Amino acid sequence: MPKPLVLLDVPLLPFMQEQVEPYCETRPWTLLQDGNQGELRSIEGIYTYAHAKVDGPLLDRVPSVRVISNFGVGVDHIDLTATAARRIPVGNTPGAVDGATADLTLALLLAAARNIVAGDRYARSSEFIRYDPGHLLGREVFGSTLGIIGMGRIGQQVAKRARAFDMRVLYHNRRRSLEAESTLGVEYASLESLLSQSHFVTLNVPLTPETTHLIGEAQLRQMRKDAILINVARGPVLDHQALLRALSENWIAGAALDVTDPEPLPRDHPLLKAGNLVITPHLGSATLRTRKRMGEMAAANLAAGLARKALPSEVK
Ligand code: 8YV
Repeated sequence: MPKPLVLLDVPLLPFMQEQVEPYCETRPWTLLQDGNQGELRSIEGIYTYAHAKVDGPLLDRVPSVRVISNFGVGVDHIDLTATAARRIPVGNTPGAVDGATADLTLALLLAAARNIVAGDRYARSSEFIRYDPGHLLGREVFGSTLGIIGMGRIGQQVAKRARAFDMRVLYHNRRRSLEAESTLGVEYASLESLLSQSHFVTLNVPLTPETTHLIGEAQLRQMRKDAILINVARGPVLDHQALLRALSENWIAGAALDVTDPEPLPRDHPLLKAGNLVITPHLGSATLRTRKRMGEMAAANLAAGLARKALPSEVK
C-alpha cells in the first residue's frame, strides 16, 4: 500500500527523516506553489519543523489533511481555531524542550551578566596585550534577584537552576502556583513588582494574544536601571522598538535574546548594533539529545494522526 503523503516545511535532519519514514512519504512545502490540485488533495498530514504558518486558507488547499505534527512545543504559528473548525488534531512536543531551554536561559543570563561575548571578542583582538583587572566588570548573578515571567514547565526548570545560584526568585504567571512556591522556593509577584525588583528578568511564556507585547515601553521603564532582560520565549512577547530605546537610552543595563520579531531580524536592524545585547539564533532547544526526543514525539503524533488514532501529545 502506498504511504500517506505529508507536507514538510523545511527538510528534516537525516535522523528525523528516518523517524517519520516508516509512516509516510514527505513532500516539500513548495508543492503549495507549484503543485496541482490533485497533488494537494493527496496530502494527508502536515509536519512543521521551522514554524511555517498554517492557517485556514492553507488548510482549505489541502482538504485531506487529518493531522498536523509540530516539531516543538510552541504552536503560535498554527491557527488553532482553523484546525479545530476542521477537526484536525495538532500534536506538539511538551516536556522535551524544557531542560535544554532552561539551560540556554541561564547561559544567556550568565553571558550578559559577565560579558562573555564582549570578553571573547576582546580576548581574541589585537587590543588584548595586557591584563587589566578594571576591565569588563560584570554583574553578580549569585545572590541577586531573578524575575521569571511564566511559571510553566520551562519557567520551573529556570527557577530550579537559579536557586542553585543562590538567587532569590520571583515569578509572575496567569495563575499563582502554590506547588511551585513550596517545591522551588519561588515567590509570586505582580508584573509591576517583579519588574521593579529583579536584577534579571526572563520571559518564559508561550506567545498568545495576551502575551503579545507583554513587555513594552511601560514595562521596560518599570525595570531597574541595572537589570538585564532575557527572552527565550517568542520575539513578539517583547516590543522591539521599545527595547531598542531601552537599550540605547539606558533604561535597563542589557538584554539577551534567543528569539526576535521578526526572526531573523533584517541584517541592518539597529538592535544588531547594540553593544549591550547578546543575541543567539533560536537555540533554546538546540541540542542533539533534545532534538532526538522532539523528533520521536513529533513522529509518534504524526503516525497516530495518519492512522486516525488519538495523538500521544495533542494540543488542547
Ligand atoms: C524548536 C521551539 O527549536 O519548542 C519550541 O516551541 O521554538 C524550539 O524549541 C522549534 O520548534 C524547532 O523549530
